[in-house]
Amino acid sequence: MAMRNPKTEPEYPIASPTYAHVVGWGMAVPENVMTNDDISAFVETNDEWIVARTGIKERRIASEDESTATLAYKAAQRALEIADILPIDLDLIVVATSTPENIFPSTASLVQDWLNASHAGAFDLSAACSGFVYALNMAADSIRAGSITTALVIGSETMSRILDWQDRSTCILFGDGAGAVVLQASKVEGGVLSSVLRSDGAGCDLLAIPSVGSIDADESRAGSNGHQLFKMYMVGSEVFKFATRVVNDSIDQATKLAGLDVSDIDLVIPHQANYRILQSAARKLKIDINKFMSNVDRYGNTSAASIPIALCEAIEQKRIHDKDHIALVGFGGGLTWASMIIQWGIPEPSQQQSSLINRQRRNILYYTAKWRSRSRRWRRRVNKTMEYLRPKRGRVPRLLRKVDEDDRL
Ligand code: ACO
Repeated sequence: MAMRNPKTEPEYPIASPTYAHVVGWGMAVPENVMTNDDISAFVETNDEWIVARTGIKERRIASEDESTATLAYKAAQRALEIADILPIDLDLIVVATSTPENIFPSTASLVQDWLNASHAGAFDLSAACSGFVYALNMAADSIRAGSITTALVIGSETMSRILDWQDRSTCILFGDGAGAVVLQASKVEGGVLSSVLRSDGAGCDLLAIPSVGSIDADESRAGSNGHQLFKMYMVGSEVFKFATRVVNDSIDQATKLAGLDVSDIDLVIPHQANYRILQSAARKLKIDINKFMSNVDRYGNTSAASIPIALCEAIEQKRIHDKDHIALVGFGGGLTWASMIIQWGIPEPSQQQSSLINRQRRNILYYTAKWRSRSRRWRRRVNKTMEYLRPKRGRVPRLLRKVDEDDRL
């Protein structure tokens, strides 16, 4: 019998590694377009200044009926369609956002309910404009560790709701939208190769949305930093300097971590904050600016949504091919920044076709989701009303037993 060499052979056979691949993608932006000229009608600015300093020409603004959750829901439906999976196949939903629907319940929980993703955990992640890369990293790590198989990662924002529309240095920059990807376990080598997540909380005074958090619970302290609660403020020039410093550094680090050279990167999908930041990063990294995906001219800065929206448009424009190395890089409030290298694997973008039967099953699940939630709420209300009637001992009425079972789920 051959003896095991303990130096070269492990005591137990090691399972082949699991990789986390992007298998679906989708985006949703409001129909309302706000141009630079529209903004110059209510603050002192002009199209020429905005285009020259930022590259932004227009942005999308959510209508009254739209919210962070509704945009996230639409983007998610499109991502599930491309991945051709059912909502019940999802193990996890993460929404990266700075403009959540509520403090809690999370926007992710609302999306989970509307999708009828009854087997998924759900939570929101707050890392400002770096949030999508943070969330994708969390999901990819969970997949590679084997604790989940399929995750839906969304970046969604309604920045228009937290802007001070009288502050010309911020209101010109932002827009609304959402982007989503489905990440799935696979034995095909590639997918998410490396990530670098960083934070510098000393920059907390440069970019923030002060709200009534635990620090402001005492009314006398509310807004004590001199900024309006619930409205964003930013020291633009300092954030600009920070961004131009960290973007190239973190791409460089993530590339090395993946065992690659910067010259191996086929496409950079950066957070869309300012075209000048992309030009600076391209110069420092010695990467052709044409390898930087940019749509900042049409959407402005959509914070955590900007990277998945840009990814969707890059796929649409056929700028991503099988085996390509893609670098994602986000930066923003916190301060935070994050880079990730993905080797594009399955599936070939142009080969995506959703099967008709699965599409119908998804539609049934979306339709029944509304009724399922309503009936649960209704049964809870009935339960409350009937609590008085609950016999102290003896047989529990059938309806109450059903509610009790649901609450235990
Ligand atoms: N129209 C006309 N003039 C303006 C405007 C405007 N909209 N905004 C500012 N100005 C003026 C200023 O008042 C200033 O005038 P002054 O010299 O008379 O005082 C002058 O323009 C220059 O102002 P700066 O702030 O120095 O302009 P800068 O070239 O830095 O551009 C900008 C400002 C576009 C905000 C830039 O600093 C920037 O893009 N910063 C980075 C933003 C970013 O990357 N954010 C990412 C994170 S967002 C997140 O995490 C949520």
